[in-house]
Amino acid sequence: MMMSTVLEKQATKDNIILGLKKAMAEYEIAALTKKEGKILFDYIDDVNKIELQYTPTVLSPKKFFFPQEEVILEYTMEGKVQAKIDYRKMVLFGVRPCDITGIQILDEAFAESNGDPNYLTKRENSVIIGIDCNSVCDENAFCYKVNSQYPDGGFDIMLHDLGNSYAMTIATEKGELFAEQYFDSGRVDSEAMEEFIRTKERSFEEAGGPFEELENLPEIFAENEHHPIWDSEAERCLSCGSCIMVCPTCYCFDVIDELALSMKIGDRLRRWDACMLRSFAEVAGGENFREEVKNRVKHRINRKFNFLMRKHGKSVCVGCGRCVRSCLADISPVTIVEALTETSRQVRLVEKNNELYLPTKAYIREIVQFTEKEKFFELEMENGKSLNHQPGQFVLLSIFGIGEAAISISSPPSFGNRFDIVVRAVGDVTNKLHTLDVGDFVFIRGPFGHGFDKNIQREMEGKHVLFIAGGIGYVPLRSLINFTLKQKEHYAKISILYGCKSPEDRMYKDELDYISTIGGNVELLETVDSADKSWLKNTGVITSLIPMVKFHPENTIAVVCGPPVMYKFVIKALNDQGLSNENIYVSLERRMKCGVGKCGHCQLDDIYVCQDGPVFRFSDIEEKEEAL
Ligand SMILES: Cc1cc2nc3c(=O)[nH]c(=O)nc-3n(C[C@H](O)[C@H](O)[C@H](O)COP(=O)(O)OP(=O)(O)OC[C@H]3O[C@@H](n4cnc5c(N)ncnc54)[C@H](O)[C@@H]3O)c2cc1C
Ligand code: SF4
Ligand code: SF4
Ligand code: FES
Repeated sequence: MMMSTVLEKQATKDNIILGLKKAMAEYEIAALTKKEGKILFDYIDDVNKIELQYTPTVLSPKKFFFPQEEVILEYTMEGKVQAKIDYRKMVLFGVRPCDITGIQILDEAFAESNGDPNYLTKRENSVIIGIDCNSVCDENAFCYKVNSQYPDGGFDIMLHDLGNSYAMTIATEKGELFAEQYFDSGRVDSEAMEEFIRTKERSFEEAGGPFEELENLPEIFAENEHHPIWDSEAERCLSCGSCIMVCPTCYCFDVIDELALSMKIGDRLRRWDACMLRSFAEVAGGENFREEVKNRVKHRINRKFNFLMRKHGKSVCVGCGRCVRSCLADISPVTIVEALTETSRQVRLVEKNNELYLPTKAYIREIVQFTEKEKFFELEMENGKSLNHQPGQFVLLSIFGIGEAAISISSPPSFGNRFDIVVRAVGDVTNKLHTLDVGDFVFIRGPFGHGFDKNIQREMEGKHVLFIAGGIGYVPLRSLINFTLKQKEHYAKISILYGCKSPEDRMYKDELDYISTIGGNVELLETVDSADKSWLKNTGVITSLIPMVKFHPENTIAVVCGPPVMYKFVIKALNDQGLSNENIYVSLERRMKCGVGKCGHCQLDDIYVCQDGPVFRFSDIEEKEEAL
């Protein structure tokens, strides 16, 4: 029962109570009240008996829709039988958020597949008016750990205490009709309402906020089937079933036939049952599928945070704290959840550390000889997973017996489990790689480093983007270049300046030739250090291309990658054209060994290029002596 209409109104407290009094002509009213010195939810015959101040009750208001015991069939021994559904037209007043979340869970559970007529008829004939909490009710309550203090359904009207008045969130048509008929309501004092919300947020935050890994609890529970806490909690558990009886979201029941003394007629009734009781899962012949206390404790808590949480998409424990208050053995879901979460956290930490230096096998699927010294390789991860990389990130490629080398990923993100690299044969690993064939394998760690992330990509939108790549420096930029070309209309202009030693050293030749034909707001300027007459484009160092590009410095972002010697000259040429260092990104190359900020090889003053870079805004590193 998700919220369909949300209306906000306000009425004085006196008016609300008066409205309930009037409604008594049509409805039975159940509310928080005092009986024999105890606070509980019960039917009332006088609105003056309503307790507005909340004290946690032993039983939750689920009993009005799913009573401890109810007749579901009446029969005679002659074979007549009829279904029995008891219901009253009722208003359930003053239910707190945790219990409302509990009712929402029961609504889903009883409505799914074979809708339960006994529960659903009672619910259809009820109007639920909640009273919001803006502070934690006692030390055992932990609604804020499972976020049940903010129900998004399960009520018709929710009242928020603004002093002499209640603001109303009206969530259903039923609630709207009821409020219209019985409450004299006006506009909400929005300032007071905002203050209520702020106070609520603050006090639940101060209480501690949600479980550290609330969303992951089903996985955490599945991982910890053999956790020692199951033994230690089971040792203390008395198997009394109190926790189940008081729980607003437990809904197991037993079905019993009772014959009248006359032995001629009888009732079939259902009665709350408790999976914590030994007999719950016993079958004929004495076989018991949940004989051990430990398994019953496990089952009960797993229902809340694992089995049923998967089904309902939220914790099925609403943190009302009733089981904690009622348990003589001091067993608390909080202790169990926190112990399992901590163990899973530790296990993941160890796994992550183990994985840090553990490479994954990747097969060579394609090789293209780009230039005399440079080869293109397409690699496929054996584990079937995508690298999930950002443009500008790199991997560590290893060949056992030789070593590892940092290599940029040249393909764009989301290429499935395949990715491309271009490698220049300069030393041990790269020369060995050049001897391998399609079908051979290497090992890969990563992706590593800080590439051209979403913030940088967003910063470029609407601007003139100037890519300046020298030699193999085209490779780390290629992924970003292709990304921008794909959505070229998002940029004022895209200029790609590419330089290499000779026309024979051009890499991705077909791609460069294609880019030169795109036109519109895309331009490609190329240069080589030296060439014969057949080369019709520019000859000279890459800086000679910069004055050929017309750009407005305040609306331009330059991205530079190339051999170390190139940066100083390129940045100076850009500065000469008025471009500030804030508008220049560089991708740096350093000697790298670990790739994860540990070995110190790539250290640049207080930063590690492998981790904090290789992509940097130049103004962030310009003061560092070893930057260029
Ligand atoms: C972030 C990053 C991305 C890179 N991307 C690519 C790429 O896409 N394609 C590519 O071909 N290369 C790339 N490199 C460079 C590559 O990692 C090095 O050339 C690497 O040393 C090659 O390993 P090797 O075992 O073949 O060479 P080695 O046997 O280590 O010999 C390399 C020789 O070159 C010298 N040298 C010069 N620069 C470096 C350097 N940066 N690292 C190590 N040694 C260096 C060494 O002193 C040594 O003598 C990248 C480097 C970094 C840091
Ligand atoms: S457990 Fe939370 S939502 Fe429930 S009554 Fe207490 S404070 Fe309110
Ligand atoms: S398990 Fe305990 S705290 Fe959670 S909803 Fe049930 S009674 Fe409340
Ligand atoms: S490569 Fe080891 S710290 Fe950067």
